[in-house]
Amino acid sequence: MTKQAIPNGVSLIQAPKHNRQQSLKDAVAEGFKRTPKSTPALFFYDTAGSQLFEQICKLPEYYPTRTEHKILTDKASDIVSIATGEVELVELGSGNSAKTRILIDAILANQPHLHYIPTDISTDFLLESSIALKNEYAPLSVTAIAAEHNDALQLLPEGGSQSRLFLFLGSNIGNSEPEEAVSFIGQIRRRMRSEDCLLIGFDLVKDRQVLFDAYNDKAGITAEFNKNLLVRINRELGGDFEVNRFDHHAPFVEAHSRIEMRLISRCDQTVYLERLGQSFGFEDGEYLHTENSYKYTLAGFESLCEAAGMKMQKYWLDEHGWFAVGLFHRASGG
Ligand code: AVI
Repeated sequence: MTKQAIPNGVSLIQAPKHNRQQSLKDAVAEGFKRTPKSTPALFFYDTAGSQLFEQICKLPEYYPTRTEHKILTDKASDIVSIATGEVELVELGSGNSAKTRILIDAILANQPHLHYIPTDISTDFLLESSIALKNEYAPLSVTAIAAEHNDALQLLPEGGSQSRLFLFLGSNIGNSEPEEAVSFIGQIRRRMRSEDCLLIGFDLVKDRQVLFDAYNDKAGITAEFNKNLLVRINRELGGDFEVNRFDHHAPFVEAHSRIEMRLISRCDQTVYLERLGQSFGFEDGEYLHTENSYKYTLAGFESLCEAAGMKMQKYWLDEHGWFAVGLFHRASGG
């Protein structure tokens, strides 16, 4: 593990290279053999992808961010009051930490200092937002962990006398397959003590048009975000994808209760990836499957968490019942 000092009282922990998740090269080599061809969603988030995702969060059609933001704004003091004594905040997949500010404010109303531990896969983005936060909040100390969620949990410093509030917001849990979600929540649980809690933001099943519009926005930002993956493959794997020969399409697939992000080939074409030394054919209409975004019912999500040994203590919904924020403790026993 490397730990290097960064200006402004922020420190950075980075996953050692060998510890990092599957490389883009391996993921593409493996995923392009499947039918349909697929890539893991985590490869969306290079610097350009993270910036595009920030833009998605501001789109009028993309309700999850603003809806969760509103729930947190309305309920922050209620949420932090459930934690025992002084707390430390651990945020898995922090992004730009925008929503976290609401909780930081609520916590700092109750205690003089706060240790904030954000984790994110994009090092540049993580550092930039950690430094911005530290500049904004003098009583904050920040230990940033640049790693994928699972690795970040292994790199988490041991807890001290304060209880921990773990955050997994923004419906990030929805991008994991349900079995992976159970396993990941189980891993968080193993890092929790009985006094710690876990706050998860998860997206709910709703009107199909609302769901469709959120992932097929009029301004085309989600399309650009999706196609940026091809730009990244071209850059990092020496690919010759012609990005405009693919169309973005993100239907809600009822059978799996998920949005599927797809890039549909507009013609028969062959793509060469130099670093793999391999060509891949795409037929007209064939799609590359780039992400799943699962939508849950409240009861469904509660039982998923129970399978991971977690008990829902309390939950909060927005006025339309579109999005939920749930607070979990370790279930007794186990
Ligand atoms: C990060 N994640 C929760 C987003 C989602 O809604 O599944 C990613 C995203 N994909 C397209 N738009 C947003």
